[in-house]
Amino acid sequence: MRFSVKTADPGALRCGCVIVPVLAKARLGEAGTAIDKSLGGAISKALARGDLASKAGSTLLLYGEERKAARVLLVSMGADATISEKSFREATLAGLRHAGTVSSAEVLSVVHEASVENRDLAWQLRVQVLAARQGAYRFESLKSKKEKDPVRPASLALLVAREHAAAARKTVAQATALANGVDLAKDLGNLPGNVCTPAHLANAARSLGREFRLKVQVLERKQMQALKMGALLAVAQGSDEAPKLIVIQYNGGTAKQAPVVLVGKGITFDTGGISIKPAPEMDEMKYDMCGAASVLGTIRAIAEMKLAINVVGVIPSCENMPSGRAIKPGDIVTSMSGQTVEILNTDAEGRLILCDALTYVERFKPAAVIDIATLTGACVIALGHHNSAMFTSSDTLAGQLSAAGREMADPCWRMPLDDEYQEALKSPFADMANVGGRAGGAVTAACFLSRFTKAYEWAHLDIAGTAWRSGTNKGSSGRPVPLLTGFLAARAQR
Ligand code: BES
Ligand code: MN
Ligand code: ZN
Repeated sequence: MRFSVKTADPGALRCGCVIVPVLAKARLGEAGTAIDKSLGGAISKALARGDLASKAGSTLLLYGEERKAARVLLVSMGADATISEKSFREATLAGLRHAGTVSSAEVLSVVHEASVENRDLAWQLRVQVLAARQGAYRFESLKSKKEKDPVRPASLALLVAREHAAAARKTVAQATALANGVDLAKDLGNLPGNVCTPAHLANAARSLGREFRLKVQVLERKQMQALKMGALLAVAQGSDEAPKLIVIQYNGGTAKQAPVVLVGKGITFDTGGISIKPAPEMDEMKYDMCGAASVLGTIRAIAEMKLAINVVGVIPSCENMPSGRAIKPGDIVTSMSGQTVEILNTDAEGRLILCDALTYVERFKPAAVIDIATLTGACVIALGHHNSAMFTSSDTLAGQLSAAGREMADPCWRMPLDDEYQEALKSPFADMANVGGRAGGAVTAACFLSRFTKAYEWAHLDIAGTAWRSGTNKGSSGRPVPLLTGFLAARAQR
């Protein structure tokens, strides 16, 4: 889907369909009024009849005139005088969805004239681009026949006032870069475990590296052994797929700027290992590499945006399988940090691969480290599917991540990390156990990771509830690429 910014006289538009926002009390904005005039008052007549419901996202399709706006799609922005973010998003999605069923090859125009709470034009443009790309996303590389959409708009033109055009073009380019990153994360997440192996993730990183001239390094089992990554290697030992530790570096900042390090859990399939998972929905454990996918997606986005910041992506990747070589409950392993871990449940594997990656990243002398992981089922119970869980003892990082999540409509919610929870990880035989019982499972998992992050500022995002949707419409969400990209963009500006 192509995007463009137009400043054409709204009264002299030629397009397949123009989407016109209708404000509270059936009022039209400036552009809408001009379009109405050019169509001899067709819009105001329809509105006067009360045919458009006032609920945000209600739509009404009118036929305009050939050689002008062939179709006019009215979209209600809601009944409130100030449009809320939520109403704006709903209206945008509904408008694009409806327009997408009536107009295909022709340009789809969206008029921008509504002011939304305290959000600026850039925010509105980004919402429009991301919503359009979300609607256009398909994952059909593994279907022998592509599903035919009756209509699929090829391009979307965003109509803005002339004085905003230059800034709007930049914003649209940045939003497109973000959408490209989200789509990469979705594609990798949606791939099945037999295709998206650790080697596949490594190749995805390499091709990203070639496209954007990034430094990519892939550590093999031998190198992990030399580094004494006993915890990561322990998880990997049950699988025939070779583990990989992927390191990808984007240097948009100055040489002396400390990098932000993103660490993504890359379990390409999580059977649970010897503590094997029940069969129902086990297929969804192909998504257990969504943390890794979000790291690659975010790096793709910021590289295309050319953000002035240094970022290192680190992805520990392997499968979690049962086998004659697999780890067993009760096994004790020594992590790269030297701390020993009693593995009471082989299904708590994410923290085992992450802890060695978190020790490894000390070498980058990071300004901050964020790890992203589909870490616990308990996180889904605690927060559901709307907020990712965020853990950090740094109020600064917490503030920055929360703000980025709100701004990008990819929210996270801060969870506790009090020392008291550490008790649960006591082991009579090793420095710690890898599980802390059912109570506060997402918190004790974060506590486990915290023991490997003493050398830098750190935050952990548990995305178990937000990285994909279940059910018939199942699929990877691309989250939290928007949150992370927003977080890095804000830091790059400081
Ligand atoms: N990948 C899972 C977490 C998960 C489960 C994410 C369900 C999304 C949906 C993780 O490796 C895991 O299995 N965690 C265990 C931890 C437990 C054994 C302490 C869990 O949550 O059940
Ligand atoms: Mn598991
Ligand atoms: Zn897992």
